[in-house]
Amino acid sequence: MTDISALIAGIAEELRFADNRGKVANYIPPLALVPDTRFGMAVVMADGTVHTAGDAEEPFSIQSISKVFALTLALGAVGDQLWHRVGREPSGSAFHSIVQLETEHGIPRNPFINAGAIVVCDVLLGRLQPREAIGQMLRFVRELAGDDTIAIDETVARAEQDGGFRNKALANYMRAFGNIEGEVDLVLGTYFHFCALAMSCRQLAMAGRFLMGGGVSDGHRVVTEKRARRINALMMSCGHYDNSGDFAYRIGLPGKSGVGGGILAVAPGIASIAVWSPGLNASGNSQLGQLALERLVQRTGWSVF
Ligand code: DON
Repeated sequence: MTDISALIAGIAEELRFADNRGKVANYIPPLALVPDTRFGMAVVMADGTVHTAGDAEEPFSIQSISKVFALTLALGAVGDQLWHRVGREPSGSAFHSIVQLETEHGIPRNPFINAGAIVVCDVLLGRLQPREAIGQMLRFVRELAGDDTIAIDETVARAEQDGGFRNKALANYMRAFGNIEGEVDLVLGTYFHFCALAMSCRQLAMAGRFLMGGGVSDGHRVVTEKRARRINALMMSCGHYDNSGDFAYRIGLPGKSGVGGGILAVAPGIASIAVWSPGLNASGNSQLGQLALERLVQRTGWSVF
């Protein structure tokens, strides 16, 4: 049997001095302060064993990885009705692109691009106040991870609220099409707080267990098996934006990235994996995070294909 602890320790060591580390996001100022030398990895196996390497206990801004948890909550709230408001196709465009919205009637291609996640927040606010939706999200990830210390980084949330001009444009544009029903500021405030969740690789890998376990996490059913499969399918096809095809080709696992440099990847029935390295590639996905996952999959054979 492969020794996963030794394997990921080896990967962390190999990547420690890699020169092509990508570029740390700077359009959200607090993210630019995170050193690009950080690297963490956590693997939670189906039997509950946890393996960690590097800076796996250090919380980072999960950013767009929160879109997986937001989607799960929205499907729980409105079920397949959600698909009237957002599509299920890869966009082939950047995560913050606006172009397709013009010809596609303000319906974003999928829930993992910014426009799609903003609609998902609006759907949640159809039933909840922003404060309640943010509280629900925090309780949800704490419960999934089995860790009450998970928190939202208010500095990051505020930085996005002060800037975030593209997201403001996206939300207003979709509102003009009637696909944002709430107050734009409240919808965005909720979205920014979700993105500002701070979690470590360990916490994130723990939170991803329900997607590894056919909807079951730690003996508790979180979503149906069918829904877990479908969320994984969306992560595979759309989780890395216009880089999703390459991620599927190289890694072959459902995965979701964030501009904080994190990636959550799922080997169904086998493992829930989180990796963090802040430097990003041109599509806004962790450069070394993808490389680490590629090596892990090559050495374990965990691709779904
Ligand atoms: O809305 C934004 O631009 C960020 N809060 C999240 C973007 C993101 O994480 C894209 N991911 N790779």
